[in-house]
Amino acid sequence: MTSARVSQRIGSIAESATLAVDAKAKALKAAGRPVIGFGAGEPDFPTPDYIVEAAVAAARQPRFHRYSPAGGLPELKEAIAAKTKRDSGYEAAASQVLVTNGGKQAVYNTFATLLDPGDEVLLPTPYWTTYPEAIRLAGGVPVEVFAGPEQGYLVTVDQLEAALTERTKILLFVSPSNPTGAVYSPEQTREIGQWAASKGLWVVTDEIYEHLTYDGMPFTSIATATPELGDKVVILNGVAKTYAMTGWRVGWMIGPADVIKAATNLQSHATSNVANISQMAALAAVSGPLDAVQEMKAAFDRRRRTMVKMLSEIDGVNCPTPQGAFYVYPDVRDVLGKEIAGVRPATSAELAALILDKAEVAIVPGEAFGPSGFVRLSYALGDDDLAEGVGRIQELLGTAK
Ligand SMILES: Cc1ncc(COP(=O)(O)O)c(C=O)c1O
Repeated sequence: MTSARVSQRIGSIAESATLAVDAKAKALKAAGRPVIGFGAGEPDFPTPDYIVEAAVAAARQPRFHRYSPAGGLPELKEAIAAKTKRDSGYEAAASQVLVTNGGKQAVYNTFATLLDPGDEVLLPTPYWTTYPEAIRLAGGVPVEVFAGPEQGYLVTVDQLEAALTERTKILLFVSPSNPTGAVYSPEQTREIGQWAASKGLWVVTDEIYEHLTYDGMPFTSIATATPELGDKVVILNGVAKTYAMTGWRVGWMIGPADVIKAATNLQSHATSNVANISQMAALAAVSGPLDAVQEMKAAFDRRRRTMVKMLSEIDGVNCPTPQGAFYVYPDVRDVLGKEIAGVRPATSAELAALILDKAEVAIVPGEAFGPSGFVRLSYALGDDDLAEGVGRIQELLGTAK
């Protein structure tokens, strides 16, 4: 008999640092503290009415009170294929779509389906906190390829080449990026895609921030830009960020039919179909207009500029201007080691804790996304809160000596 209570596999998973920061900020707020949270990765807008109405109508139909196919409602799979053609220029049949419980389950399913123990995944770093855990859970090995602010948080082919081994199976490509907001140009995307194809790698690409790019920067789907990849490509996406639908839990993966069939088998045992009401809301979203995201984008763009300007005014903070998503990722290495309110934070985790404690502002330390020395702030919150929160950080860090 073994004495282990929690398995090694699950026991070694780290808590989602972004959700933890958000939960702590919400708990402090509930206790009456005037906390301003920059932790959450979700739009602060309500889901558009016509989407909510589609869900209400679906809830009244008995057929949606029952189990439905584990891989997704056929009409939604068709609509996702059409939307992918519209937005990514990528042709896929409905049979190549698996509807998942949010983009997160698409990430999990994909790595579980593609990886055998020991298979390596090239993971551009800073990375979204869920990727390495999903890779490890599948028995895979995340191989971090770090790109700092000096290179715009964009990895190069030379760096990828240096990290390649005979165990490399997948390149993960995320543009626009969470946490850095970096966006690869069409040329950079093609160069990386062609390199991956020339090495026979799979490319897993997360396109969840496709509609949030700024300064005229286009979104480029690596799947479409690189036909040389053939069928060794999996696209991850969802309705969360584009339609302010984080709570509805609808995402999807698109890939070759055999991979989708295998992933559907996995999902059929894990969770079965995504809630039908949410699927019908997602159907209204993906087959409707993109007006709501354009409105959100205008607000995000305004907040992005304010935030970069205010953070850049702080001594020791280097805040590159992100071109996508809704995060800034300032480099705070020059602040570490200085005395702030009687404390000398040595890491970005200690700095974030100090900022929460003294300024009552929640931000996510770089340790959640790779190396220490950086922090992530979401600008998906109201303009007044944003200015007040960054103002408090300015005031606190202004005392650094
Ligand atoms: C890069 C990226 N991919 C996927 C997701 C998953 O989103 P959801 O599971 O809410 O659809 C997120 C959410 O933060 C994300 O930032």
